[in-house]
Amino acid sequence: MSGYQLALLTMNILLLGSGGREHAMAWKLAQSSLLSLLYVAPGNAGTEQVATNVPIDPMDFKAIDRFIRRNDISMLVVGPEAPLVAGIVDYFQTSDKHKNLTVVGPPKAGAMLEGSKDFAKAFMVRHNIPTAAYASFSSGQLQEAISYLDKRKPPYVIKADGLAAGKGVIITESIEEAQKCLEDMLENAAFGEAGSKVVIEQFMDGIEVSSFIVTDGEAYRILPSAKDYKRVSEGDVGPNTGGMGAISPVPFVDAEFHEKTLNQIIIPTIKGLKKDNIPYNGFIFIGLMKVGSDPYVVEYNCRLGDPESEVILPLLKSDLLHLFDSLGSGLLSEYDLQIEDKAAATVMLTSGGYPGGYKKGVHIKGLETPMRENEGLIFHSGTTKKRGKVVSDGGRVIACTGLGNGLEQALERSYKLAESIDFSEKQYRKDIGQDVLIKVS
Ligand code: GLY
Repeated sequence: MSGYQLALLTMNILLLGSGGREHAMAWKLAQSSLLSLLYVAPGNAGTEQVATNVPIDPMDFKAIDRFIRRNDISMLVVGPEAPLVAGIVDYFQTSDKHKNLTVVGPPKAGAMLEGSKDFAKAFMVRHNIPTAAYASFSSGQLQEAISYLDKRKPPYVIKADGLAAGKGVIITESIEEAQKCLEDMLENAAFGEAGSKVVIEQFMDGIEVSSFIVTDGEAYRILPSAKDYKRVSEGDVGPNTGGMGAISPVPFVDAEFHEKTLNQIIIPTIKGLKKDNIPYNGFIFIGLMKVGSDPYVVEYNCRLGDPESEVILPLLKSDLLHLFDSLGSGLLSEYDLQIEDKAAATVMLTSGGYPGGYKKGVHIKGLETPMRENEGLIFHSGTTKKRGKVVSDGGRVIACTGLGNGLEQALERSYKLAESIDFSEKQYRKDIGQDVLIKVS
């Protein structure tokens, strides 16, 4: 432990969010020697095991402000993207009452990397960061958008510009479907304000992987790579979800790919933010496509991923609160990030019907895991307590994380947990990680 860490006092922290990502963050923060009290707003039945849940909406900045003042909070950690894109960091940075508050998350200008696909694409082009060719169109430009589409070859990739909870990307072989999608977004407001502008992109044929960095706008640290499984059904088919599982690290991220990602994407992104005078203090989650042996940016996110957090955070040997504190004190360049030499896999148990309609309030059994913490962890994603019992409260319910000496062992433990937890109409993918295992064997 370095000298500056020893000199610090313990602190009270407020973490915003209620998913598996926030349970994994709370679990990791709760292990810190720097922590005094940890609150999660609003949290779930899992965060309640390691922190105090407070019933505050992460978008209610005034209520958060009051809670921070009344509870001597010195650090606010923002889990999801919506409050960041809505300017929560700017709200607290411009307030005289919160001069000493550390906020983990970028201000609105930085969060726009996720909040607007058009902004992110223009940023990448400006800074020479590899990404698919594109064009953007606003409401009132439907005919121009359709003409542009006519000149492209399938598959067609259409993205709503704004936040759309993972549902704003359409990839289709059918020109009719692509045209209908443009009409729905630009004329019929199918995605509300988020789709009032669209980005049409060239299709990239490759394999997806994500890179995660934490930066103060100058220094950066790279977290383990991860790959998530977005489609609802095995074989990666069916509608998109928030993520049905994840693995980390990703076996095909070799030294060459890592170097290319660092030099062609990570460093130019941080330099680009600086050049554009965009301050940043938090995570950048870079969705990549490996095309041949080269990385291209699919998208930026201004936060950690979910369920990627449920595999990345258990692999951190270092103290997460020290990492956040070094962001606040400008000492990230001195922070020694240590990663376990292990693999992690998580399988998401979801409610029957998800990502369509599903029941809530279903009793979950088998949460008292027989596994040791260094072998398996249960992170709650959409749960709450009802009459003292843990019940489902979302489409994604429980993330079952397995840890092992290699991916195979991590997956085996993850699936053992997935089988041992039970609730009515439980569904999960049985092929998480299999594509990658086949490729490396
Ligand atoms: N798993 C994808 C995301 O967090 O956006």
